[in-house]
Amino acid sequence: MDKCTLVTGGTGYIGSHTTVALLEAGYQVIIVDNLVNSSDKVLSRIEKITGLAPIFVRADLRDTSTITKVFKEYPITSVVHFAGLKAVKESVEEPTKYYDNNLGSALSLVKAMETSGVSTLVFSSSATVYSPFEDSPVDEGATLGPTNPYGMTKYFIERMLTDVALGDKDWSIGLLRYFNPIGAHSTGLIGEMPRGTPNNLVPYVMQVAIEKLEKLYIFGDDYETPDGTCIRDYVHVVDLARGHLAALRFLEKTKGSHIWNLGTGKGTSVLELIQTVEEVIGKSIPKEVVGRRSGDVPIVYADAEKASEELSWRAENTILKMCADHWNWQKQNPDGYQ
Ligand code: NAD
Ligand code: WQD
Repeated sequence: MDKCTLVTGGTGYIGSHTTVALLEAGYQVIIVDNLVNSSDKVLSRIEKITGLAPIFVRADLRDTSTITKVFKEYPITSVVHFAGLKAVKESVEEPTKYYDNNLGSALSLVKAMETSGVSTLVFSSSATVYSPFEDSPVDEGATLGPTNPYGMTKYFIERMLTDVALGDKDWSIGLLRYFNPIGAHSTGLIGEMPRGTPNNLVPYVMQVAIEKLEKLYIFGDDYETPDGTCIRDYVHVVDLARGHLAALRFLEKTKGSHIWNLGTGKGTSVLELIQTVEEVIGKSIPKEVVGRRSGDVPIVYADAEKASEELSWRAENTILKMCADHWNWQKQNPDGYQ
C-alpha cells in the first residue's frame, strides 16, 4: 500500500462504502468520525467485506489540533471529506448547528491540511446547491441557489475550497455533487442507518416494507410530470463510492478545483420507485397520497457527462438493483447496526 487517505465521516453511509472501495483499490484508510450519526460497528463489517481494517480515530473535525496530530501520525497523502450533518428539515429548525458543524469542520480540516502540507481533497457536495428553477438535466454550469441552511453549508464550503485552490496552485480539489444516493453494499453488511423516522423516500419505504412504519405518505401527485409525482435521479451508493475513487485518481495527477455531478442522468418518479420496491419485496406497500412537501421541486436529474468524460465514471446500477440491495441490507439489519 503506497497511498494513505484520510476519510472523514468514514463510518457513515457513503463514507463506509467509499472506504471499502479505497481499501479494495490498495489505499490505506484512516477514518476520522465523531459517531454523531454512525456506529463504530461498521468497522468490523468493512473488515469482513475487504479483509482489511481501516484505522479509526474518534474525533470531531472541528478539533483542529487533534486533526493536525492525525496528519502527523499517519502518512496521509489525500483526504475525502464526508463528515457533516445532512438533514434538510433539521437544518431549517437549527441553522446554527448546521453552520457550526459543517462550515466549522471544513475550515478546521483545511487548516490542518495546510499545516501538514496535504493538498489533495475530495468534498461531498450535493445537487441541492443548484437553484430550484434550473431545468433538468442539470449540468455543473447551472445557476446555484440552495434554498435551506443545509444546502447553504455545501455552497459556502464549495466557495471556500474554490478560493483555497485559486490562492495556492498546489491544491487539487474535487467537488462532487451527488444526486439521490440509495442502495447498499451487495453483501448487505453495510448500508444507511437513519436515526429516528427517515426523512428520505427510500429509507422510509424500506421501513414500511419491514412493517416498522405503517404506511408511506406520497407528497403530492399533482405535479407536472407524467404520473404526477416528483422525479429524482437515484444513484447506487456503490457507484458513488467508485466515483470518489475516480475523482481521487484524477486529482492525484491534476491541480486546481474541479466540479462533477454524480448521478445516473435518468429520472425516476416516486410511483415508479415504489413499484420497483414492491417488485423486489413481492408485496404491495401501504400508501396514501397527501399534500406536497414544502420546498420540493418537480423534476431533478443530472447531466453526468462531465464525470464520464473526465473521470471515465458512469453509474452502472439500475434502479431495480438499487432497491434490491437496499432491501437486502434492510432485511438483514432491521435496526441498523444496533
Ligand atoms: P452520514 O450521516 O451517514 O455520514 C456523515 C458522517 O459524518 C457520520 O458518520 C457522522 O457521524 C460524521 N460527522 C458529522 N459531523 C462530524 C464532525 N463534526 N466530526 C466528525 N464526524 C462528523 O451521511 P452520508 O449520507 O454518508 O453523507 C456523507 C456526506 O455526503 C455528507 O456531507 C452529506 O451532506 C453529503 N451528501 C449526502 C447525500 C445523501 O442523500 N445521503 C446527498 C448529497 C450529499
Ligand atoms: C424524494 C421524493 C419527496 C419522502 C434530499 C435532500 C437533498 C439530498 C438528497 C443531501 C420527493 C418524495 C419523500 C416521503 C415522499 N441530500 N417523498 N414521501 O428531497 O430529492 O433530496 O435527499 O444532500 O439535499 O433534500 O429526496 O428522498 O427526501 O425525496 O413522497 O416520505 O420523494 O416529496 O419528491 P430529495 P427525498
